[in-house]
Formats: sequence, C-alpha cells, structure tokens
Amino acid sequence: MTIYMDYHATTPVDPRVLQAMLPYFTEKFGNPGSVNHALGREAQQAVEEARGRIAEAVGAQPREIVFTSGATESNNLALRGAAQRQPQRKRHLVSVATEHRAVLDPLRRLGRQGWDVTLLDVAPADRPDAGRLDPQQVADALRPDTLLVSVMLANNEIGVLQAVAEIGRLCRAAGVLLHCDATQAVGKVPVDVQQLHVDLMSFSAHKLYGPKGVGALYVRRGVRLQPLLDGGGQEWGLRSGTLNAAGIVGFAAAVTLAVQEMPDESARLRTLRDRLYAGLCRELDGVLLNGPVLQPGALRLPGNLNCSFEGVDGEALMARLTQLAVSSGSACTSANPEPSHVVRALGRSAALTRASLRFGLGRFSTAADVEFAIGYVAEAVRALAGGAWPPRCWPGEGGIAISAASPYVPSAGLRRGRGCRAATAREDAITRHMRGAAAHAWGGGTCVGRRSVRGTALVARRRQPAYRERQAARRALSGPAARRELPP
Ligand SMILES: Cc1ncc(COP(=O)(O)O)c(C=O)c1O
Repeated sequence: MTIYMDYHATTPVDPRVLQAMLPYFTEKFGNPGSVNHALGREAQQAVEEARGRIAEAVGAQPREIVFTSGATESNNLALRGAAQRQPQRKRHLVSVATEHRAVLDPLRRLGRQGWDVTLLDVAPADRPDAGRLDPQQVADALRPDTLLVSVMLANNEIGVLQAVAEIGRLCRAAGVLLHCDATQAVGKVPVDVQQLHVDLMSFSAHKLYGPKGVGALYVRRGVRLQPLLDGGGQEWGLRSGTLNAAGIVGFAAAVTLAVQEMPDESARLRTLRDRLYAGLCRELDGVLLNGPVLQPGALRLPGNLNCSFEGVDGEALMARLTQLAVSSGSACTSANPEPSHVVRALGRSAALTRASLRFGLGRFSTAADVEFAIGYVAEAVRALAGGAWPPRCWPGEGGIAISAASPYVPSAGLRRGRGCRAATAREDAITRHMRGAAAHAWGGGTCVGRRSVRGTALVARRRQPAYRERQAARRALSGPAARRELPP
C-alpha cells in the first residue's frame, strides 16, 4: 500500500475527465487539421470548444491559447521564442532563483547564447514570507535593455505564491514583457491573466487531474514569438504538430472541474495540510517549515507543506518511507540529481535541504492519509535521529569506512549506485555510503567510481579554510535581496 502525497509532481486523471476523453481515442479519432471531412471537423470542433473553456477559466481570449505538450514546452516557447524574436538591443532577462528548471534551463541556454540573465533571490527561511520575491527587487533589476521578466505564480516545492499582479503592473509600465509559470497555480488558486497583467503564461493538464502530455501557453494578443518547431503550421504557426485532441478535451474538462470545485477544495486541503503540520510538530522536535507561514494562507498553495527534519539523513529518510509517496529535497530521488535548489535558496544548509520532504495533498487525499503520514514519518525520523540504518559516513562527519563487502553495499547496489539518476531511494543511500568509502580509500588508491571520488573531492574542497573564507566574503557582499548573475 502506498499513500500518495506527491500531487505537485502529478495528479491522477479524474474519472470524469477520463470519460470526456474516451470517445476521442476511438470513434471520434479524426485529426483536427483534417477539415475536409466530418471526422476531422468533429475533432476540430472539440478542440475549439476546449480552447474556449480553458481561455475563459483564465480570463483570456480563445485566440490567445496555444496548445503544447506541457508546461516545459510552454516555458521554452515563451522564453526562447520571445528572446529570439526581439530586436538586438533588448538583451537582458530577469527571473528568480527558485523558478522551476523548465524556466532556469532555457534561461541558462540563452545566457550561453549572449543574453544577460539576472536571477533574483527570495526572502530567507526565517521570515514569515520565506520564498517571496519583493516586487521592488524586480523594479530595481529592470534596465533600459530588459526584454522580459519571468516569475512563477506558485512554487512547486514550497508552495509560495508570488505577487505577480504587482510585478505585472510595474513591468507593463516599463514596457517589459512578463512571463508567468502558473503550472502549480491554475485550478488551485484563482488565476486571471488580465488581473495578473501577464503577457505569457504557462500551464499544464496533468497538475490538475487532466492527462499528461498536454499544456498551454497564453500569448497576449500582439506579443510576437519565434516558434520552436517548424512543420504543419498548427496553432497559428506557433506550435506545429498534430493536436492531441483527446488530451485537449481532457484538459478542458479538468480545468472546468478544478475551477468549479476550487472554493470547497481549497478549504478542505488547507485543513488537512494544517493538521499534517501540527501533527508532525506534536510528534517530533526539530521540524522546520520551508516556505511561508501557513496562516493566513494567502501566501501559500492550500495543499503544500515542506519541512526539514533536523538531525536525520535525507536519503536515509526517503529510503525508509516506502509506503508514502512524497518528494524529497535530497539528491538523486528524481530526474534531477541535485539537492533542491529552492530549499537551498531559502538559506537552508545542505544537510537540512537533503532532510526536507515536500508533502503535496490533493483531491483524493483524506484525513486518514494525513493521520497515517504523521505516524509513519514520525516513526522514521525518530529511528534515524536515534542512529538507525544507515549511519552517516561523510568524511569529517564522524564517518565510517565501508567496503564492497559491507552489508550496506550489496554488489548489485555497488554497480548501479554509480548512476544516480537511475538509482532507487535505497540505492541513493548506498551511493552516499560509497562516496564515504571512496573518501576513505582516496589515499590508498582504491576507487569506488569516478563520480564518487569527484563528489568527495568537492566536499573536501568545501572544507578548506580558504574556500570557506571566500564563500563568507561572497555572502557578505550579497545581502538577501542581492541579485545573482547567471553563470554561463
Ligand atoms: C512550476 C512548474 N513548471 C513547469 C513544470 C513542467 O511541467 P510539465 O511536466 O507539464 O512539462 C512543472 C512540473 O513539475 C512545474 O511544477
């Protein structure tokens, strides 16, 4: 039995959504582009009806909705499409350190291609508005050559809601485009593109009980983009490729349901989420909230909770939580091999970042699930804080030496442990042990794996006084509201 509490990662398709989609896989299977026969026109009509419903839900015109494969593509089309379409003199882009990688990575690519990218920091963990961006930081970052600002509406890890409407007002006054990644917000909090003053907005069906592989980009009338794909010229030439008619019908059904049920569902999720946090704090010492305060609730998604657990190893914690589907701030638990850059951006240490859990509650979460999670997590944290398996083994942290013959490192784990991406949570814990072992064996010339040794060398470098002094000097120079230039 697994209790699902990872609704920020994805959601199950609501049975009502599935019912709406099913005919478009079988009897209504036409290509919406085949307007010269009835089957094609039937599919086209369904797509256009869906476009109208989705547009209405976010306050847009149907013509302003471009269907994509999901929010990753929408973000890429918005950022790269806007940058590549613009005159040479506008070469500056502004965003936030806590954005999703589907924003940060396209920006990084643009940075390599010669655009100047500024990333803004957010309020640190000890503030009630932790994770929030002050709109004044955006105002201060704007330059005469700023083309675009990208700020997400709701963060996928710490649930913080940004002041997008205020940022939108000041961008519009300065003649700068505003892109908003609203993937975690649509269907969960009210979203209206007019009130937010956004020019471009990304969202995705599978975060709101619709199917995977379909999303949308709102493109305000008059905003020009360079398409990422060339081909059949669908979506006004902005997104070539046969439209996913069944997915789009499901997307519209999902958005309609989510908007209709939002007031009651938000209140229910907020109650469950608050109960989860209160329960964890009652059962355990050292529970640190990541992100803004839970009350009054205007700063955070209703179903989001993110906590660090002091004194436990993040990978070991995840390895224990086999019956609870949550997401971890530790490395190697997803396609992203880095510890959460969002929790780190709040100023949490690497250890507290690794020991963080994101709980995402959703439509099918119950009070019984919450009670289970409280007891289950508390038991795991207590066991680990008490020194249960696996012991810590980072060099210089009272580490232990292990070898391939150690009971902690079965040979299969040793082989697979080198590829972090493919590793399971348990193997991740083993990988960390291997790094410890690699460090121990460094002087003796034994090598557990190139990756392990490189990781160990980095840790060793970070412990050197000169490195620490340099970092401290850098921190002193940049206050919490300081800007960071994106490395090339
Ligand atoms: C904030 C945010 N943006 C973008 C994405 C990417 O969405 P998709 O899976 O639809 O490509 C996600 C998904 O995790 C997200 O949470």
